[in-house]
Amino acid sequence: MQQGFPMTLSLQRPAGASACAHQLLTWADLTQRAPCLVRSSCRLSTKRKSQISCRAFGPESRRGVAAAIALGLACSRQRPARGETSPSTPILRGKVAVVTGANTGIGKATAAGLARSGQYGLIFLAGHNEEKTKIAIDQLTRDLPKPANGAEPVKFEFLPLELSSLDSVRSAAKAFQAKQLPLHTLVCNAAVMALPERKTTSDGYEFQFEVNYLSHFLLTNLLLPQLTASGTSDDPARVISVSSGAHFVRSPLAFGDVSDLNLAGGEGDAHAYYPWTAYGQSKLAQVMFTYELTRRLGAQNTPVVANVLDPGFVDTELQRYLPAQAPAPAMKFIAKTAEAGASTPVLLATTDAGRTKGGFWIDGKEARSLGRGSSPFPLNPELAVPGSTSYDESAWKALWAESAKLAGLNDTI
Ligand SMILES: NC(=O)c1ccc[n+]([C@@H]2O[C@H](COP(=O)([O-])OP(=O)(O)OC[C@H]3O[C@@H](n4cnc5c(N)ncnc54)[C@H](OP(=O)(O)O)[C@@H]3O)[C@@H](O)[C@H]2O)c1
Repeated sequence: MQQGFPMTLSLQRPAGASACAHQLLTWADLTQRAPCLVRSSCRLSTKRKSQISCRAFGPESRRGVAAAIALGLACSRQRPARGETSPSTPILRGKVAVVTGANTGIGKATAAGLARSGQYGLIFLAGHNEEKTKIAIDQLTRDLPKPANGAEPVKFEFLPLELSSLDSVRSAAKAFQAKQLPLHTLVCNAAVMALPERKTTSDGYEFQFEVNYLSHFLLTNLLLPQLTASGTSDDPARVISVSSGAHFVRSPLAFGDVSDLNLAGGEGDAHAYYPWTAYGQSKLAQVMFTYELTRRLGAQNTPVVANVLDPGFVDTELQRYLPAQAPAPAMKFIAKTAEAGASTPVLLATTDAGRTKGGFWIDGKEARSLGRGSSPFPLNPELAVPGSTSYDESAWKALWAESAKLAGLNDTI
């Protein structure tokens, strides 16, 4: 672990680049949508550009990176029998999936993609807003093609899950287990991004850390018995985590430091809260969790495979906490549709991709996550800080142990 790493990211402007273009390139690096963003920057008014500023990775880079983001967004081991159901669930034909945060955005599009694949019979939309989820379920059901030959249509069900409460995660896992269903696929998708001020959950943890990562860590561990019982060596059960290009953002975890994942330090401290540090760290935690889970599953020859992905830059509700939000027409021009953003999770849940070995994926292809001092983003190599990495096994293990402690899990795989 590197002690005292520099907390701030100085986003130096390449010679000849305007401040605005540089900010766009930075967000482009995070989202891998450089050409689109550069094009779209020309369409923003000077007034609009000057309105955008907020706190970002660190004190020195606040304006640059936040503006880039804003502009980018602007511009039981018991084997459940297949078919065995509780009174509330339909007769089961096909696989069962749980998708978190599936009432909108990439999660909803993932649920639709799973349903259309013909492989899934029952898909749980796990989330904290029943009304919004019921509307999503109505839309998903309406949009499905009619099943041929009188086959049962795919069913969608709401599974109550508030990711800012570990008790709620435990209740959701219990509620699912009570149904005595198999579980073939768990998609850990729900997230919040870049809350402007540090906020804590009912468990006292930093909000993005718990919602985006820790609760998914707990949920996955609690549902592993169902996943294990439902997978086979030919067709393992899948754990799919939706991370982000933002996992490259400099954070303590990127240097193997798990001593304060809640970012409770004061301003300027190595563990200070900055919106993008917290978001990036939660997304890096998902990557490292997947690698450690893969290692543990492999050691026990468990028929479950774990993959993690970056969906790219997608037109969704994710920018809800940003100080400046993109006009819808700009997003339609510069960002992927939710369906395109869901293509990799759907691929990982329905094909041989990632079936034999867990890994990190971008745009349907295996890719490299944050590596020691190297950046896949040529436009802004500063995003990959020398010494930062997602491939440090000791950091995976430390993160796992700390996560188990924070989640109150005594027994993990
Ligand atoms: N959009 C992008 O450009 C982009 C880029 C990289 C990575 N990602 C990742 O893609 C995933 C999906 O994001 P999205 O873009 O589809 O965002 P989104 O449209 O904002 O969807 C986020 C989902 O998470 C749910 N959620 C938020 N807080 C929750 C909580 N406390 N408990 C339970 N559910 C909660 C939301 O439910 P409510 O609406 O009911 O709150 C919503 O269903 C995220 O992991 C995100 O980090 C997105």
